[in-house]
Amino acid sequence: MPDKTRKELQEVVASTHALIQDLETLGLRELIVPEVPGDLPPCPVNVRGVEDGGDSLCRRETLDEIRAELEGCQRCTLCKERKNIVFGVGNPHAELVLVGEAPGREEDIRGEPFVGEAGRLLDRILFAMGLERQDVYICNVEKCRPPGNRDPSPEEVEACEPYLKRQLAAIRPRLIVAFGRFAVQSLLRDQSPVSRQRGHWREYEGIPLMPTYHPAYLLRNPSSKREVWEDMKQVMQRLREAGRSG
Ligand code: URA
Repeated sequence: MPDKTRKELQEVVASTHALIQDLETLGLRELIVPEVPGDLPPCPVNVRGVEDGGDSLCRRETLDEIRAELEGCQRCTLCKERKNIVFGVGNPHAELVLVGEAPGREEDIRGEPFVGEAGRLLDRILFAMGLERQDVYICNVEKCRPPGNRDPSPEEVEACEPYLKRQLAAIRPRLIVAFGRFAVQSLLRDQSPVSRQRGHWREYEGIPLMPTYHPAYLLRNPSSKREVWEDMKQVMQRLREAGRSG
C-alpha cells in the first residue's frame, strides 16, 4: 500500500477511535453501523486506482467483468453473422499481451483468437521465444469476425476498440506487441505504415509497445519473418530486463 494511503487510513482509524470514546463519555453504549459498500468501483480506463499507486478510490476492472459486458453484444453489424465473440485467451496477469486484428473463420467457430493458419505461425513464433500461449494474453482489436475476412470498417473498430483498451487496463502488462495495421493504428493513433513503425519501441498508456507485421502478412510474405524475429528479439530482451528488475 502506498505510504500516503497508509497514513490516511491511520488518520481515519485514529479519528474514529476518538469519536467512539467521546460518544461513550456521553453515555452511548450501542452503535449501529450502517452497511458500507465493501468493494471499490472499477477504475475508468486511464485512471489509476490506489492498488496501482494512483490516487483514485477505484480498483482494476477484471477481464471477466469486461467479458460479461460483451455478452450478446450488438454494438455493430458484425453481430449479425458472427458465431462467437472472440474475447481473448491466456494469462490474465501476463507480462506480454499480443494484439491482432480480428477473428477469422476458425476463430469465429471456436471463439478463440489466432487458432487458424496465422495462429499456428504465431504459436511457432512464441515457441521460438521460449513462450507458450498460457504465458501471454492474446486478443484482437475486433471481437467479431468481419464477413469474408474483409477489413473492419472504421465504425466497427470504433465500437469495439474500447473493450481492447479496457482489457489492456485490466491486465496492465509490462509489454505489448501490436500485430499489423489495425492493432498498431488503433493503439498508437498513428496512420503511418507498419513497415515504417516496426522495430521501434513506442508507448501505449505508459506501456512499451512493439509494432510489427501481422502473422497473416508473413504467410503471404515469408521474407518478412526475419524482421519480425528481430522485433521479437527486442521483446525478449525487455522481458529479461524486466525479470531482473523484479
Ligand atoms: N488474425 C487476427 O488478427 N486475429 C485472429 O484472431 C486471427 C487471425
